[in-house]
Amino acid sequence: MKSFQRGHEWLAGAETIASPMDLEGINEAVEYGGRIREEFSLQKGEIFLNHGSFGAVPKCVQQVQRRYLDEMERHPDDWYRRNAYTYWQESQKAAADFMHCEQEDLVFVENTTAGVHTFEMEIQFPIFSEDEICEKYEDFFQSNPNTKIAIIDAITSPSAVVMPLKRLVDLCHRYGVMAVVDGAHAVGTLPVNLTELGADVFTGSFHKWLFTPRGCGMLYVKQEHHTWVRPLVTSWFHGLSLDKQFFLVATADQTPFTTAKYAFEFYQRIGGMDKIIGYASSLATEAHEYILKKLQAEPLQIPQSMESPTMRVIRLPDLPQYPCTREGSIAFHTDMRNKYNIQCAIELIQGHLHLRISTQVYNTMEEYKRLADCLLEVIQTSRKP
Ligand SMILES: Cc1ncc(COP(=O)(O)O)c(C=O)c1O
Repeated sequence: MKSFQRGHEWLAGAETIASPMDLEGINEAVEYGGRIREEFSLQKGEIFLNHGSFGAVPKCVQQVQRRYLDEMERHPDDWYRRNAYTYWQESQKAAADFMHCEQEDLVFVENTTAGVHTFEMEIQFPIFSEDEICEKYEDFFQSNPNTKIAIIDAITSPSAVVMPLKRLVDLCHRYGVMAVVDGAHAVGTLPVNLTELGADVFTGSFHKWLFTPRGCGMLYVKQEHHTWVRPLVTSWFHGLSLDKQFFLVATADQTPFTTAKYAFEFYQRIGGMDKIIGYASSLATEAHEYILKKLQAEPLQIPQSMESPTMRVIRLPDLPQYPCTREGSIAFHTDMRNKYNIQCAIELIQGHLHLRISTQVYNTMEEYKRLADCLLEVIQTSRKP
């Protein structure tokens, strides 16, 4: 550790702040499902119904990141020793305001996966009520009294189920269990107030639904855990405050973090959560109903209160050319992309292939109708003798 700088002489502060992004024409009046698509780089002619996997970065946010990268390349020492920390803190403040917590309790990490995995509980479908989930957790804690940490998905990944988060966090605490929330899909789609939630740790991926560049996740750590939580890699600022330790986890690209502030600004400028999620969830409901009817398919059996605002899951019929395996799901996904120019997630859940659609401001109902037509064609072709 001798050769490591201790940070006191570093972090002197930026002399120049990168210019704000070009927001001309971006405001609440921008037409969802229409003009707004031009704000993204998504390939023309491609139907992109899988925002949930990797997000999509608006052009103006990409532009800000490029400015930061230019600045870093012009003077790497100025960037790492002085300027980046100021920018990073500005983004940290914007993220903490958005997530309703103290600035010092929130740091950036590359993604949600950088969180910890200690136990996973198997959730089976159908689910009839939120109570059922809480009872499963409670049974687990009662039969495993040594449980120390629980990881709770705010929204599950392939199945897109919204968990009764506050109830589960409170339950953990009743049993003396530390509550760690995997909020990968929750940030930007559900109104999360970290102070009220009371989780010990909360991680999320801003690059999914908040339009930041990829590689921009967050980690909230309740004050009482600051003393022992550390980055996965011990680096330059070992032993300093939580935010300094996470600011410089060795030499890495921090521009996704410094750019985050502007991605939040984009999100607010186009209408904020009420408008964005209002649009996406109406579209999800309409698209879900349409596809179910067209394919005469089964929805995933969950109560309405547990449906994700921006994703829906539909069981696909078992088809001979797509075995219900990981390979089958990849083949189905690839065919949808190559034959029809449609990106949608095909997931393996409880031994059957399922379609997972995402809805975002740039999507339209026409796109889901086209998806339903193409799926019907795949199904009918496959059933021909
Ligand atoms: C619940 C959950 N956790 C973690 C992840 C992984 O996110 P990331 O790749 O940003 O780490 C996902 C991705 O879809 C997810 O749904």
